[in-house]
Amino acid sequence: MLSLSQIKKNTQVLEFIRRTEITLQAVRYSEHGLRHSNLVADRARSIAQVIGLKENEQELCAIAGFCHDMGNFLGRTQHHYWGALLFHQVFCSQDIKDVSIVMQAIANHDKETEMKFSNPVSAVVVLADKSDVHRSRVGKKSIAEIQADIHSRVNFGATYSKIRVDKQKKRITLVLKIDKKVVPIIEYFEIFTDRMLYCRQAAEYLGYRFGLIINQVELL
Ligand SMILES: [Fe+2]
Ligand SMILES: [Fe+2]
Repeated sequence: MLSLSQIKKNTQVLEFIRRTEITLQAVRYSEHGLRHSNLVADRARSIAQVIGLKENEQELCAIAGFCHDMGNFLGRTQHHYWGALLFHQVFCSQDIKDVSIVMQAIANHDKETEMKFSNPVSAVVVLADKSDVHRSRVGKKSIAEIQADIHSRVNFGATYSKIRVDKQKKRITLVLKIDKKVVPIIEYFEIFTDRMLYCRQAAEYLGYRFGLIINQVELL
């Protein structure tokens, strides 16, 4: 059985993530390196635990969360497919059922996919990934640079971001604090509406309703 600790020691995976970080930094994208990988892995595991997925599935959620963006260094638009195929190349000698589930979760994590969910691991990874909106993703940009780009403004404005799972009420809620002095909240929706709709689909697949709370106001 694959484990996250084994994946985290894999020099190929680590290099792909490092290359991705350098590549996306060069085009001034938000942070896509080890910070994002670790956060999505941890978040995916804890969502999987709370909703009661089996232990093996929890591990696969964490693995897919860690690896989901590692294909970005080969190209941004199709990075979810590159990442899935790279995962297979590195781990093709492992249990193919586990490998396929992780490949599918990586391929499905991007909103541009035409797939519908058919596995809980994919749905959990979408929720873990799309909820990572935070100031710490902006990196070392000047204030002028942050102001000039909507993704930077929104990430920089997000001072708190947590995903809350209520098993009893069957509700998965993204809780954000957005500093309105940095960015008007409408700009969050301008760039993230598709992602929120994808989160809603993911939550519904898991049997939950998706909620969004910004600055203590329940919006969804
Ligand atoms: Fe991605
Ligand atoms: Fe991501």
